[in-house]
Amino acid sequence: MKKLPEHFIFGGASAAYQAEGATKEGGKGPVAWDEFLEKQGRFLADPASDFYHKYPEDLELCSMFGINGIRISIAWSRIFPQGRGEVNRKGVEYYHDLLKEAKKRNIKVFVTLHHFDTPKALFDQGDFLNRDTIDAFVAYAQFCFEEFPEVEYWTTFNEIYPIATNQYLLGIFPPGIKYDLTKVIACLHNMMVAHAKVVNLFKESGFHGEIGVVHSLETKYPASNSPEDMHAAFLDDALSIRFLLDATYKGRYSKETLEALDEICQANDAVYDFPEADLLELEKAKDRNDYLGINHYQSHFVKAYNGENAIHHNGTGDKGTGSYKVKGIGERIYKEGLERTDWDWIIYPEGLYDLLLRIKKDYPNYKAIYITENGMGYKDEFKDGIIMDKPRIDYIKKYMSALADAIEAGVNVKGYFLWSLMDVFSWSNGYNKRYGLFFVDFETQKRYPKESAYWYKQLAETKTLL
Ligand code: BG6
Repeated sequence: MKKLPEHFIFGGASAAYQAEGATKEGGKGPVAWDEFLEKQGRFLADPASDFYHKYPEDLELCSMFGINGIRISIAWSRIFPQGRGEVNRKGVEYYHDLLKEAKKRNIKVFVTLHHFDTPKALFDQGDFLNRDTIDAFVAYAQFCFEEFPEVEYWTTFNEIYPIATNQYLLGIFPPGIKYDLTKVIACLHNMMVAHAKVVNLFKESGFHGEIGVVHSLETKYPASNSPEDMHAAFLDDALSIRFLLDATYKGRYSKETLEALDEICQANDAVYDFPEADLLELEKAKDRNDYLGINHYQSHFVKAYNGENAIHHNGTGDKGTGSYKVKGIGERIYKEGLERTDWDWIIYPEGLYDLLLRIKKDYPNYKAIYITENGMGYKDEFKDGIIMDKPRIDYIKKYMSALADAIEAGVNVKGYFLWSLMDVFSWSNGYNKRYGLFFVDFETQKRYPKESAYWYKQLAETKTLL
């Protein structure tokens, strides 16, 4: 039996583009995803879970099931349809209403400013590879801080590393570019600079509330004890974890990070440049993050790899179809004996424990941590309104137990947001990879609590893991 702290947040997470639907309603401007999905022809972002209209019902479900926190994101192009310039008041009012409804029910709301959905007008000019986007993002953030003083928790970005790699390494996010490490590093760096600038603005202007960033941090382990595999894990970790935590909490890139980057760049004919003025911005922000949001689903086991780039994304849920081999970094492999989901995500709760302890040790100036996403993509079966998702309950139980152990070991974790509150659409997997506590019938938009929702309710009430 393990206890979670008295004032812990038992939350559910969502994101505008994955939940709202209504992509052409209420004056919303386009995002690159609209066209990307249309061209791909597998699935669309409409109607998603129709959260644009159904949010009062979803918030009511939260109250009924003991969920005292939610993560939402503001769709930048609902506020500024062209990314900057003219404001769409309808979009602004929508978020005021949503926040008011949540407040009525005493639900804490963590608001992300950017969850993969840069307005198309800015995206087409290079997204965050174009430094003008940094300025547009800062202006949009400032507008939101002034317009929404009711927000208590702001998040600048959701998952900078997956954005950079899915856009420019795996090519599964628009603009669909593969194996361009120069772009990956520039995107990572520019987004970290944008984060730092927004945090500095927030603190220097004395805005109300707390501010932080959400990083996807999935622990890397060497596939064996060989020096080659250990080095591969070090390189993978440097690009995906250390780079971001250094920029967030050290205000500079450490010697180890730069050494790893140099090696990765050499193998991939890539280059990087971190202007001095950017580093000053990072330095100023490093002690100003009120919290770190961690999205954590899996761990990776990395083996030395000297061949050509070869990544195949398992976006269908056919187990064993994914592969990840990056020149000059390594190959992520599946270790015998470890469980994995149908999408080849390795279930390894120790990875969360190790990660949290590492942050406490290596980045002692972190103030608080929230697990802002964790959960299990699963092909839920709907039988007469009943959804028995025992594997999901087991998954959450194991990860929350690792989390409780980390709290016990002195890590300041203040809340957990399950991905996802209700079923939503998945960017590169569509609608059959479900994560929600509430099953959504995407035809009728009816919600049905899954077995896991009842289990989560009990957990939130008792704060006890049995
Ligand atoms: C995170 C994102 O990467 O993981 C979410 O913040 C996403 O937007 C979630 O949906 C699960 O990933 P996927 O690819 O299974 O939908």
